[in-house]
Amino acid sequence: MGRLDIKIGKLKLKNPVMVASGTFGYAKEFEKLMDLKSLGAIVTKTITLKPRSGNPMPRICETSSGMLNAIGLQNDGVDDFIKEKLPYLSKICVPIIVSISGDKIEEFIKLAKKLDKEKAVDGIELNISCPNIESKKGLIAQDKDATYDVVKAVREVTGKTLITKLSPNVTNVLKIARAACKAGTDAVSLVNTFLGMAIDIETGKSKLGNITGGLSGPCIKPIAVRMVWEVAKNIDKPVIGMGGIMSAEDAIEFMLAGAKAVQVGTANFIEPQICEKIIKGIKRWEKTK
Ligand SMILES: Cc1cc2nc3c(=O)[nH]c(=O)nc-3n(C[C@H](O)[C@H](O)[C@H](O)COP(=O)(O)O)c2cc1C
Repeated sequence: MGRLDIKIGKLKLKNPVMVASGTFGYAKEFEKLMDLKSLGAIVTKTITLKPRSGNPMPRICETSSGMLNAIGLQNDGVDDFIKEKLPYLSKICVPIIVSISGDKIEEFIKLAKKLDKEKAVDGIELNISCPNIESKKGLIAQDKDATYDVVKAVREVTGKTLITKLSPNVTNVLKIARAACKAGTDAVSLVNTFLGMAIDIETGKSKLGNITGGLSGPCIKPIAVRMVWEVAKNIDKPVIGMGGIMSAEDAIEFMLAGAKAVQVGTANFIEPQICEKIIKGIKRWEKTK
């Protein structure tokens, strides 16, 4: 007992704590603030095929026990990522999971093919659940057939560990998780942010340039724990849980709900060393079992 190492697909992690996509940049931003080597894995900010300028400002605002964000997947595109960010990430000696997103299946395929060639990429997380990009058809992760098609198409072009990130903005999350598993994902991660909105009562306008945004932080934790529990007991692939983890106790709660690993998001903005504390806390808890 007391061992923290786990396996997700082909990936071996020395502990189950990862940083969540979009809350840790491409890791360099945190190099002076914490020990990057302590992490179980790093999930990069989502990248797309072509650069994206993101949504209009303001893009974040604080809410009771959480925050809203509507970044809109701002990034410099996959070629820039491979040239400018990956060399640094590869030197950290921690598994690197690259989060990707696209508007069409073809974009996911092209991204996965490019990343599959890169030795420094250990895994791919499919962000099919970002609530901040406009789409008439809704999110891929809101439709079981669309989820199946994207996961299957990516599975066919890469042997890297594949994680599918699910949306909480659905009625039946298990149905979507099952579609991802059937299509060959190695694991599912949940949850992405909840669609939300906040209005400035002085101006009568939304506090976000995009009007709506994604809600994260402690306020979403009980719903996220329930969703992880619902999925974990019904699928035979590992579940990576997240949503409002601010302490080791919160992470343990997700693990007791059935998560094999956890991701920490919003908490990184408040306390950059939070993951190190969470890892130590889980280690102490494991020893008492
Ligand atoms: C500012 C911000 C940016 C985010 N960007 C991304 C992103 O690029 N890709 C993604 O899959 N999730 C993104 N997320 C969602 C987080 O990875 C995570 O799923 C969510 O915030 C719930 O976890 P938390 O409550 O610990 O933050 C973002 C969240 C925040 C707060």
